[in-house]
Amino acid sequence: MSELNTSPEAPRSAPEAPRQGPGPDVPARPKGEPRFPDGPQADPAGSHFERRIRSFQPRRSRVTTGQADALQRLWSRWGLDIDGQRVVDLGEMFGNGNPVVLEIGFGMGEATAQMAAADPDTNVLGVDVHTPGQGNLLNLADHHGLSNVRVANGDAIILLREMLAPDSLAGLRVYFPDPWPKKRHHKRRLIQPEFLDLAATRLRPGAVVHCATDWEPYAEQMLDVLDAHPDFENTRAEGGFSPRPAFRPVTRFEGQGLDKGHVVNDLLFRRVQHREPQEQRPL
Ligand SMILES: C[S@@+](CC[C@H](N)C(=O)[O-])C[C@H]1O[C@@H](n2cnc3c(N)ncnc32)[C@H](O)[C@@H]1O
Repeated sequence: MSELNTSPEAPRSAPEAPRQGPGPDVPARPKGEPRFPDGPQADPAGSHFERRIRSFQPRRSRVTTGQADALQRLWSRWGLDIDGQRVVDLGEMFGNGNPVVLEIGFGMGEATAQMAAADPDTNVLGVDVHTPGQGNLLNLADHHGLSNVRVANGDAIILLREMLAPDSLAGLRVYFPDPWPKKRHHKRRLIQPEFLDLAATRLRPGAVVHCATDWEPYAEQMLDVLDAHPDFENTRAEGGFSPRPAFRPVTRFEGQGLDKGHVVNDLLFRRVQHREPQEQRPL
């Protein structure tokens, strides 16, 4: 695997210009003005008005100068606001016909950038709602010349449901999704039968869904729902969890889990050939 300097504020090739746009100590902007005029939009699809349980908690986090600069400079070129208004032409988006893998919840994007650098013939579309992470991943892609990375802003469910064509994805990565450990929050977990119904329609036969978690009860849930789903089969002949494949770097959340002594489980399941369409469970 290529060695990338994926420190959150990886130095850019040119010295940073004095901050022009929004940053950590920016005075409060007038009401109604966007946080980043040329960057990602706040809740582009209005998902907060959807009556649906979401897998993430909206949070307003501090954006560093470098991240703000990347969002302002690069969003129009490499960013996608998930407005739910159109189906995206992925070939046009990446400028080539290479296979596209979707990563849901890339966090700060270090692992995403490393995997993209190690496999330049695979396009990586990362989606997250976390603004600092979006800026960080854009910065990493820019700094390391990763032309195969694009960053989507918003809810992955709307991206899958409204903006990705059937059979358009060659793979799906979900690394350390929020574990929602409290029982009353389990319904917020991303990996559920209804999610797999939707993902299966966007994945082409043979595409691999790769999940990893350091929360063992969630790992068991993932295994149960993937094993039970007719559109997926375990790539591991013996069944069960897979060891971490060498191509997946240790992610930031994983590192924190390992520090606490958590056990990490990977799951790699393949999308099987198409079957007759079944009645969909509503999301
Ligand atoms: C626990 S973090 C893991 C980040 C990273 N994969 C890692 O391992 O360091 C989970 C991430 O998933 C994102 N997320 C959760 N549900 C999402 C959704 N429906 N759409 C987009 N991002 C989502 C959160 O914003 C968060 O950044």
